[in-house]
Amino acid sequence: MFDVEKIREEFPILERKVYGRPLVYLDSGATAQKPLSVIETVDRLHREGNANIHRGVHLLSEEATELYEAARQRIADFIGASAKEEIVFTAGATASLNTVAYAWGDAFVGAGDNIVVSEMEHHSNLVPWQLVAQRRGAEVRMLPIDDRGALRLELLPTLVDSRTRVVAVTQASNTLGTRPDLRPVIEAAHAVGAIAVVDGCQGVVHGGVDVRALDCDFYAFSGHKLYGPTGIGVLYGKRELLDRMPPFLGGGDMVDRVSFARTTFAPVPLKFEAGTANFIGAIGLGEAVRFLERFDPAEIEAHETALLTRATERLSAIDGLRIYGQTPDKCAIVSFNIEGVHPYDVGMILDKLGIAVRTGQHCAEPVMTHFGVTGMCRASFALYNTAAEVDALAAGVERAVRMLRN
Ligand code: ALA
Repeated sequence: MFDVEKIREEFPILERKVYGRPLVYLDSGATAQKPLSVIETVDRLHREGNANIHRGVHLLSEEATELYEAARQRIADFIGASAKEEIVFTAGATASLNTVAYAWGDAFVGAGDNIVVSEMEHHSNLVPWQLVAQRRGAEVRMLPIDDRGALRLELLPTLVDSRTRVVAVTQASNTLGTRPDLRPVIEAAHAVGAIAVVDGCQGVVHGGVDVRALDCDFYAFSGHKLYGPTGIGVLYGKRELLDRMPPFLGGGDMVDRVSFARTTFAPVPLKFEAGTANFIGAIGLGEAVRFLERFDPAEIEAHETALLTRATERLSAIDGLRIYGQTPDKCAIVSFNIEGVHPYDVGMILDKLGIAVRTGQHCAEPVMTHFGVTGMCRASFALYNTAAEVDALAAGVERAVRMLRN
């Protein structure tokens, strides 16, 4: 049975007080808190197991390498990859997306080509494509959203054409919570021979993924949003595409033979893991996945949906409050503004009440532009949040409105 109070006991930070009040942490979309098993694994490795991977014949190095590769396998299984070689460890989703943009983009995007990017992307799945387009003389085309925050899929045929090389889209918007139907997007990309690159940062947390069923070509996410450590992320790529993609960063561990005349590269995934990888982070992320595997994903989804429904109802009842993102299948993220009140002011008052939300542009300025605002407040929920915390948020927002309007 999914017991949120028991789960909370595994997250030590949730016992923290903020300004003498219990912490109400509603910023998991920015970074999730860590369960004890992850904290202890990272701590234990630093104390007892620290040694560089893939490099030593000594026991500690062999143990660390084994744990690192086991984490890769666990993550491959968790997201439905065909093989662990399809999992590249990176510093985070931003590094993953930049790897594809630079390595794939520079090799396969040319002058006159285009890259289709959805309007609700996080900057990390937009700006790298703009940089590729600038370098290569290509065009970035926007796949728009409507005022509910739904992707305007009917426009795909007008945007994706024979010169499209990449379609980049999020599995779940970090601002609107929208979980678009990705099948038509990916099919449209494949129909013209383009690759489909999916930002899974929020999606892998809220609902999970089966990359093979989705048939995306690349999929990126960060460890720290998935209850794992910071500074570790994943780039999934279909094996044949990773094989074809040139390396991005050069250095140690990514090579086969090196001479001044010619260098050959290691097979995937090591070809994309130059330098000392964040092996402790990767093993910690494997532990976060092990933590999640203890639960029935449907129970996590039901719990988060109940929080979302309650938050939507309670916040909508507040005079002048507008929620951005109204699609039926959205994930547990609620962004809002209150007429005549600045989101930063709301965020600061909530903070004094011990409630942590994110305010600002959420690294998604085109979404702000779409809705004609300069920022939003965002509450993002995780499996450890409670209905009482939703009520505290609503009461806090009501109080902020009273204070700021008078
Ligand atoms: N990308 C993170 C967020 O959405 C930081 O808050």
